[in-house]
Amino acid sequence: MHNKSMTTAADPQSLLLTMLDPAVRADPYPLYAQIRARGPLQLPANNLTVFSTYAACDEVLRHPDAASDRLKSTIAQRAIADGAEPRPFGPPGFLFLDPPDHTRLRRLVSKAFVPKVVKALEPEIVALVDGLLRDVDGTFDAIAGLAYPLPVAVICRLLGVPLEDEPEFSAASALLAQSLDPFATVTGSAGDGFEERMRAGRWLRGYLRDLIARRRRDPGEDLMSGLIHVEESGDQLTEDEIVATCNLLLVAGHETTVNLIANAILALLRHDGQWAALAADADRAAPVIEETLRYDPPVQLVGRIAAEDMTITGVTVPKGDNMMLLTAAAHRDPDAVQRPDEFDPDRETIRHLGFGKGPHFCIGAPLARLEATVALTALTSRFPTAALAGEPGYKPNVTLRGMTELPITL
Ligand code: HEM
Repeated sequence: MHNKSMTTAADPQSLLLTMLDPAVRADPYPLYAQIRARGPLQLPANNLTVFSTYAACDEVLRHPDAASDRLKSTIAQRAIADGAEPRPFGPPGFLFLDPPDHTRLRRLVSKAFVPKVVKALEPEIVALVDGLLRDVDGTFDAIAGLAYPLPVAVICRLLGVPLEDEPEFSAASALLAQSLDPFATVTGSAGDGFEERMRAGRWLRGYLRDLIARRRRDPGEDLMSGLIHVEESGDQLTEDEIVATCNLLLVAGHETTVNLIANAILALLRHDGQWAALAADADRAAPVIEETLRYDPPVQLVGRIAAEDMTITGVTVPKGDNMMLLTAAAHRDPDAVQRPDEFDPDRETIRHLGFGKGPHFCIGAPLARLEATVALTALTSRFPTAALAGEPGYKPNVTLRGMTELPITL
């Protein structure tokens, strides 16, 4: 894993290319430490600035000139000037929008995710976990057996997506998760599998459009029916925006919480006494989850665009630059966190940017925390002597990093 570019003073682009190498996925943290030690990296030819300290990531996320709409980047502007269509697939999910559209769309769905509403889902989440753990024994893949099916069932229920269709759209969702990887910004090309990802996107949008038509005829208690009702009762959103919003929620529900649950299981089993301590005291779940979000976060980086020239921790970012915020590196910044490379749920304060910060702070955070709490307390208390049964495998994903399997002996 330690290839030459990790041990010599590589140029910024080589360092970032190493980050994209699937071989570093199992443990990207030594490489992040190297990147962080180099300070902000600027690649003017790519219109890219990379921040990896806590102070810099935090400052960008709070900055009023840090935009999320990719159309504001110099790269997009150049493509548009060369004749490219600005949004060939319709509006993006509100994760990639700025005010006023971001504010309007976020407000329409945020009610469904506030802590009080989410808390009411607890009995159902407990029942789902009970069902998943009922007859398990021997060696158990914690991904296929628990970490993946739980959040998927919950988000499908919330959105009103029939769980029977799940095998079809889980493949599309996995491909779409890869489109968040920073291939284009680092290499200047779209990366392997671009066409396949585009096909998956088209398929999922078509699937959602069909489902919207069904819900229009036969509404339910779900979020999609709620958004259709808003659309029909005024001019607050369009059908394209409903598709983009449901797409965002469906992919977020599939590709993030799974990794929080799995990364927590792995950390607990790799650190002496942590599994048994949670098995004996369910109240430890909250700090275990926060420490996992810091130590091994499901979302490893987030992107922003400089809407104006910006100065971040003394570094000038030209207007239109893409900013890559390596939050997973920031979480282990020794200037911000004591003993940063230790997994320690008992540390006095656990600071992290694992759910982001500022106007785009994760809307699903209360739901993800609740699902992880129920899953981890059930698994540890039922199987207090569980152990790792092999090394986990990792997907190639850089941004939404996660395991393919996590075998444990119960
Ligand atoms: C452990 C699980 C999760 C993690 C680590 C996570 C992480 C994040 C992060 C870091 C952001 C901010 C991105 C940015 O600033 O550019 C974000 C935004 C978002 N997340 Fe999550 N997320 C998780 C689960 C969920 C779930 C379960 C849902 C919904 C069902 C969800 C929906 C969203 C949405 C809609 C946004 C965009 C918010 C906005 O732009 O205003 N997330 N998430």
